[in-house]
Amino acid sequence: MKKFLYAMAFFLFTLSVSAQTVWLDQLDLSAATQGYGVPSKNKSLDGKPMTIAGQVFERGFGTHAVSSLTVLLDGKAKSFSAQVGIDDEVKGHDPAADFELYADGKKIWSSGTMRLGDAAKSCNVTLDGVKKLELVVADGGNGNYYDHADWANAKFEINGANTLKTFSPVSNVPYILTPKALATPKLTGPKVYGVRPGSPFQFLVTATGDRPMTFSAKGLPKGLTINPKTGIITGKVSQTGTYTVSLAAKNAKGTAQRSLCIVCGDRIALTPPMGWNSWNCFANEVSADKVKRAANALVKSGLVNHGWSYINVDDFWENNRDSKDPSLRGKFRDEAGYIIPNTRFGDMKALADYVHGLGLKIGLYSSPGPWTCGGCAGSFGYERQDAESYAKWGFDYLKYDWCSYGNVINGLPENDPNKVSSLSYNGGNELNTAIKPYKVMGDYLRKQPRDIVYSLCQYGMSDVWKWGDSVSGNCWRTTNDITDTWVSVKNIALDQDKSAAWAKPGNWNDPDMLVVGTVGWGNPHKSKLKPDEQYLHISLWSLFSAPLLIGCDMEQLDDFTYNLLTNDEVIEVNQDSLGKQATCLQTIGELRIYVKELEDGTKAVGFCNFGLDSVDLSYKDFAKLGISGKQIVRDLWRQKNVCKVSTWNDALSVKIPAHGVLLYKFTSVK
Ligand code: GAL
Repeated sequence: MKKFLYAMAFFLFTLSVSAQTVWLDQLDLSAATQGYGVPSKNKSLDGKPMTIAGQVFERGFGTHAVSSLTVLLDGKAKSFSAQVGIDDEVKGHDPAADFELYADGKKIWSSGTMRLGDAAKSCNVTLDGVKKLELVVADGGNGNYYDHADWANAKFEINGANTLKTFSPVSNVPYILTPKALATPKLTGPKVYGVRPGSPFQFLVTATGDRPMTFSAKGLPKGLTINPKTGIITGKVSQTGTYTVSLAAKNAKGTAQRSLCIVCGDRIALTPPMGWNSWNCFANEVSADKVKRAANALVKSGLVNHGWSYINVDDFWENNRDSKDPSLRGKFRDEAGYIIPNTRFGDMKALADYVHGLGLKIGLYSSPGPWTCGGCAGSFGYERQDAESYAKWGFDYLKYDWCSYGNVINGLPENDPNKVSSLSYNGGNELNTAIKPYKVMGDYLRKQPRDIVYSLCQYGMSDVWKWGDSVSGNCWRTTNDITDTWVSVKNIALDQDKSAAWAKPGNWNDPDMLVVGTVGWGNPHKSKLKPDEQYLHISLWSLFSAPLLIGCDMEQLDDFTYNLLTNDEVIEVNQDSLGKQATCLQTIGELRIYVKELEDGTKAVGFCNFGLDSVDLSYKDFAKLGISGKQIVRDLWRQKNVCKVSTWNDALSVKIPAHGVLLYKFTSVK
């Protein structure tokens, strides 16, 4: 009996040391990826006490759909339990989310769609032998807006010592692929440029290589001259026609030559605009000083030598309807209806002259509605005056953002600040109403004695790519606003094929601005995209022939971001004169293979891994990509030939990290 009691006591003792509870919040939650904000420990996403339908929880993981957190269990966990639900902090909105658990890749539990006010749902699963558990919050079918999701009281019961850890399948370590530019000159930038007869002409010849450098251009059409020191070509071309100009850049180490085709006719923006826009970085805190500093940094950093040329002011150069900030308050327009910039900007012509003086171009922003999305003065009723102002000041680009135009359609009082909401998608899905305001401004822009690139921003309503050209649009957003999250970039990327056929020189689908570097909409932080995700983002936007508008603080360019934005072989894919947009020609699991036809008959191919597992395969399906015969395969990020393949018997070894990319160019060889 005594022996038995001892044995019993020993058994209970071992059980008590070896079985234990591990709370999810004891693990490193920063490994989670989520659609918005940062993973929150024992608090809601907004840092408040976790509250689900009035019930408050002390412990847990506050996140935002779409969210994923992987925990490595190594077979040690017996069970997992939690109380899940939408946090009360998003009252007034309509969130919906689905909590899911995946054990070694297999779905083992789902909450079903949960909405605001639903009582917390209990989740209790056994995990015997499971190596990896993934906690997912999927969006509940209505987009992931305001999906603040709580895994409250989340905990594991485990056997033995706690070896549980979270794991991020996507590496966080930045690495540089773009080789340094050589000291010898190399011409960069677009190979074709469009101008309308009589419009002021400004084109900067760009090149990498040691300075000082001198520039020359042979065969310029009558009316144009080049400044040999700066490489800026200016003047006016009066005769329509296509002019082949021979450009040269010379420094102590040598001379580079290349042709530029100047097309004087009806069309502009013959390659996708490349530059910077203030929104993703400064949002409502933009000022003329910040814009000038961005322009200076673009030049000083050397980015300008790779073809980056537009400096675009977004919302908040105008006076604002409801801001308390005195620098945003003032008369919206003068007696004749001409817009008055806010005091942060003052003299718009001086700003344009400054930016032009650096060899760059300048853009600005308005809305066809009475108010911009930020509540500043829009162009409704003053389209003629505004187009005239932009031209008179010397602006080269207009982003025209739908914002409050929906209220105009719905007959709401246009100028009553109390009754007009800023952003409304109303009406944009009806073709005629969607087209109308863009045509009005497009016509006025065309009447100006200046070329102004016209960028339509209405988030893709009424299939804008089908009619954007008919209102003189040069590019158009195909999507809602991008954010610096994997979910945002992925969803936008996967949605681009539908409009691809409409891309052509002078007409570009715009999947929104770049989210690399220090971004933050007035709240600066390093892009939350992982390094591989950033390579994928830039590769895809290049394949898509998308306008490339940097959205980061130009004064805080780090080496990794610089490497992303200065790879001339990648940029060449974007700027290719044929102007086609890549589409996905093959899908293997979560690997999508995009192909873009290039002007010289070669093909840019992106092996894009949207999955959480790395891809390692021996690739042979070249026929599916429209590739046949012997090929030289070049890795564009590394600027190195990889191998030669003959499609009949060679296979290409393709290794791609999770959320990463291989961007190759295939050139036929005889
Ligand atoms: C949004 C637009 C953004 C930015 C913002 C300014 O509608 O999509 O890119 O321009 O308005 O208020």
